Amino acid sequence: MLARDLALALDPVAFAGGIGFHSEAWQSSLLRSSSRRVLVRCARQVGKTTTTSIKALHTALYRPESLVLVISPSQRQSDEFLVRVRSLYRAAGRPVETARESASTLEFANGSRVLSLPGSESTTRGFAGVALLILDEAARVEDDIFASVLPMVGSTGAVWALSTPWGARGWFWELHEGADAVPGAWEHHLVDVYASDQYDEQRITEVRASVPRFTFASDYECRFEDSDAQLFSSDDVRAAVAAGAAVPPLFGTPTQGD
Ligand SMILES: Nc1ncnc2c1ncn2[C@@H]1O[C@H](COP(=O)(O)OP(=O)(O)O)[C@@H](O)[C@H]1O
Ligand SMILES: [Mg+2]
Repeated sequence: MLARDLALALDPVAFAGGIGFHSEAWQSSLLRSSSRRVLVRCARQVGKTTTTSIKALHTALYRPESLVLVISPSQRQSDEFLVRVRSLYRAAGRPVETARESASTLEFANGSRVLSLPGSESTTRGFAGVALLILDEAARVEDDIFASVLPMVGSTGAVWALSTPWGARGWFWELHEGADAVPGAWEHHLVDVYASDQYDEQRITEVRASVPRFTFASDYECRFEDSDAQLFSSDDVRAAVAAGAAVPPLFGTPTQGD
């Protein structure tokens, strides 16, 4: 029994397996990472939130007194994160008692806390000694929020930033492909649609046939699609595609055959 407890404490993959979650190869590699700076470029719906919920809960349960801070772009997403953590905690059989609970906090009797917050300046101020900082949908977390939360991470703490790319802009892109990106500073993981067991060939074919080429490249093949030479921003392209809008001609009126 003791040996099993030790295995669960040491290995988040074993912990996940114990509650019926069978990690894919990329999830195992991420969950077992010991790097303090981790960047994960992911396709949509591959299991970002699920995997980080496991890591957050595992850290809180097995590292007493640890503060796990999860930043998501919106209130809805941060609420959803904690709902996931709670359901994993129940599935794990509540191995540590809870001390206090609220919509944004799960506090344990071992002194650990999981806080899930939307990325806005007012909510993210004032934390220190963070053991694990998770940035979910990181490409949509504003530059100034990232700059303000990074110093909150303790000297032994880890930062995990996971996201579907969102154009060639912002800190998440900078750390991947910006001129100042320092090679080796962050551990990189790439989970494109071909690397995820959530997508078989048939599902990939269906998605490819249903979304614009731009969206497939960005959201499923994980490419940062903007470039300096691009005339429209990704946002403009998305808005036009989403609204099904007729995009007016750039110069003059279109001639027949345009
Ligand atoms: N290893 C796995 N085994 C079974 N289902 C998984 C696994 N990883 C992810 N999933 C499922 O994939 C779906 C998307 O997960 P989610 O964490 O919401 O993805 P994302 O945050 O990347 O959009 C969920 O239904 C989740 O249960
Ligand atoms: Mg998610």
